[in-house]
Amino acid sequence: MSETQKREAARAALDEVRPGMRLGLGTGSTARHFVELLAEKVAAGLECLCVPTSEATAEQARGLDIPLTDLDSIDHLDLTVDGADEIGPGLALIKGAGGALLREKIVADASTRMVVIADGSKLVDTLGRFPLPIEVNRFGLGATRRAIARIMEAHGAEGGLALRRRAAGEPFVTDGGHLILDASFGRISSPEAVSRALLDIPGVVQHGLFLAVCKRAYVAGADGVKTVDP
Ligand code: A5P
Repeated sequence: MSETQKREAARAALDEVRPGMRLGLGTGSTARHFVELLAEKVAAGLECLCVPTSEATAEQARGLDIPLTDLDSIDHLDLTVDGADEIGPGLALIKGAGGALLREKIVADASTRMVVIADGSKLVDTLGRFPLPIEVNRFGLGATRRAIARIMEAHGAEGGLALRRRAAGEPFVTDGGHLILDASFGRISSPEAVSRALLDIPGVVQHGLFLAVCKRAYVAGADGVKTVDP
C-alpha cells in the first residue's frame, strides 16, 4: 500500500479522537502515520493522554511531544487505533508482524473501543494466509514448538512453524523479552478453537489472533477510505 493510502486511513480514524481522550497507540507503519497526525493535533492544542503498544511507538510519540502514560496510572483507555496484518470476517484480525502483539492485545483489551487502519490488501475471506505470530517464553522452546505443531496439524495447517529472526540471523526478541514463532496455517477455519488451544499451551504467552476486539476498520484504497464494521 502506498504511504499516501496509509496516511488517509490514519486520518479517517483521527476523526474519532475527542478532546480529553485516553488513547492507545498502535505499532507498525500505518500506526506511525496516526501518531504523526495525532501529534499535529496535540501541537495545535488537543489534550489527550496516550499509552503506546511498543517501545518503538513510545519513542516516536515522545519525540513528537505526545503526552504518555501507562496502564498502571489510568483505569481504561477510550480508544485504541492500531494496524493489522489480516482483517477477516467480523473484523477478526491477525496482528503481530511487528512483534508487538502482546502489548497490542493488552492495550486493546483495556480500551472501550479499538479500531484498525489498513489498506484493502489486508481484507481476507479466511484468516491464515498471513503466518500467525505466536509469542512464546524462551524456556522450553522445543516443547512449546512441538505443542504448537500438534495444534497446527489438528487444524489442517498447510505450512510450517518458524522462529522469527532478525536480518542478522539472531532470534527476534519482543519488548517483553520473549520469542516469536510464525505459524503458517494457510487457512484458519476455526479461529476461536485455535485461539483457545494455543492459550492452553503453558509456554505460549499470547498469539496474534484478535477476535471480537476490533469495532471498526478504516480501509484505504484507490477510491478513498471505506469503513468496515463487524
Ligand atoms: C505490530 O505488531 C502489528 O500488529 C502491526 O499492527 C501490523 O503488523 C500492521 O503493520 P503495518 O501497518 O506496517 O502493515
